[in-house]
Amino acid sequence: MAKRKEPSLDPTPTPAARSRELNSAVDVENGSDEVRFERSLRPKSLDDYIGQTKHKDNLRVFVEASRRRGEPLDHVLLSGPPGLGKTTLAQILAHEMGVELHMTNGPVVEHKGALAGLLTKLGKNDILFIDEIHRLNPVVEESLYPAMEDFRIDVMTGDGAFASSIQIPVQPFTLIGATTRTGMLTAPLHSRFGQIIRLDFYSVEDLARIVERSAHLLGVEIAKNAALALAARARGTPRIANRLLRRVRDFAEVLGSGKIDEAIVLESGERLDIDRAGFDEMDRRLLRIIIVDYEGGPVGVETLAAALGEPRDTVEDVYEPYLLQQGYLGRTTRGRVATRKAYEHLGLPFAGALLATITTQSDLFDE
Ligand SMILES: Nc1ncnc2c1ncn2[C@@H]1O[C@H](COP(=O)(O)OP(=O)(O)OP(=O)(O)O)[C@@H](O)[C@H]1O
Ligand SMILES: [Mg+2]
Repeated sequence: MAKRKEPSLDPTPTPAARSRELNSAVDVENGSDEVRFERSLRPKSLDDYIGQTKHKDNLRVFVEASRRRGEPLDHVLLSGPPGLGKTTLAQILAHEMGVELHMTNGPVVEHKGALAGLLTKLGKNDILFIDEIHRLNPVVEESLYPAMEDFRIDVMTGDGAFASSIQIPVQPFTLIGATTRTGMLTAPLHSRFGQIIRLDFYSVEDLARIVERSAHLLGVEIAKNAALALAARARGTPRIANRLLRRVRDFAEVLGSGKIDEAIVLESGERLDIDRAGFDEMDRRLLRIIIVDYEGGPVGVETLAAALGEPRDTVEDVYEPYLLQQGYLGRTTRGRVATRKAYEHLGLPFAGALLATITTQSDLFDE
């Protein structure tokens, strides 16, 4: 996935760098400032996890029932775009169950032996969290099936005619898999999860509550309408909301009184090139490529990725989902198309002569 640039108030990071910067989880392990910041704001209990009410209510029941029976929670698949709270939810579930969380990542588990090593270390009812589970090696994935179903692993010993399989029991455990794309999971793996939780983009109201909670933890004052204005610019994503809050706090300290009001949020949005729909330069470029260069589409995702100079995965995982959900982008069998809303947002005539009549970007910032 994309690399993140160090956060700064430098007004000239490239658009791509800025987008990635606002929504990348690449460096969870590198202990950078941004990662420590994110960790410090992570809710620890279901009560502190804002929004996603339906999922939360169900999970509360399942946790309670499993705890009463002294059994592990059913295996859970968490899916949804980056920054919506999959890792956070896995940590909360371990906390609520009172068990240990063991974290790993799909591509890191390179062979069956590595998986066996992880599984045999688990204590009773512990949680094994596999991030990017859609990127598991198929051989490793297959050896996960008996572990999920019967809490055992099959190990082959010997060669050729002397080969035989022995079964090693493992402690009852819960597998929590996280993926940005459910569609990329194989059917056998998908069907072995008892609960499938699809995290959706957050409403502006829920994001505003997240911003207020984070501001409180950071010891910074924020007005209600400022929290709402900030939330509206966060692409439905808690991670982006928190990172934006951090930058707005800087602007408030340097340019204002330290308190975050609506004017400071609007000023910060303009300086960071985030418009009133929450789009940054990269979102607008994507829409403009479809509309201006490809006459509204359809454009294949490979072509789009090449024109943007971004890997296809980043386009599909990071940029497209929000544009699709908000109705600016449509998907057809032949590729992506721009909707009327996209034309209107960019101030371009819908289905008219698509000559380069691009308006100045400043139009987009007027409330
Ligand atoms: N429901 C929520 N309530 C409050 N804060 C949240 C919530 N969900 C996420 N956050 C905040 O957003 C940050 C990002 O969440 P998290 O790392 O769990 O996302 P993710 O879905 O695992 O992303 P990725 O796919 O990139 O791994 C967290 O540090 C947390 O502070
Ligand atoms: Mg994560």
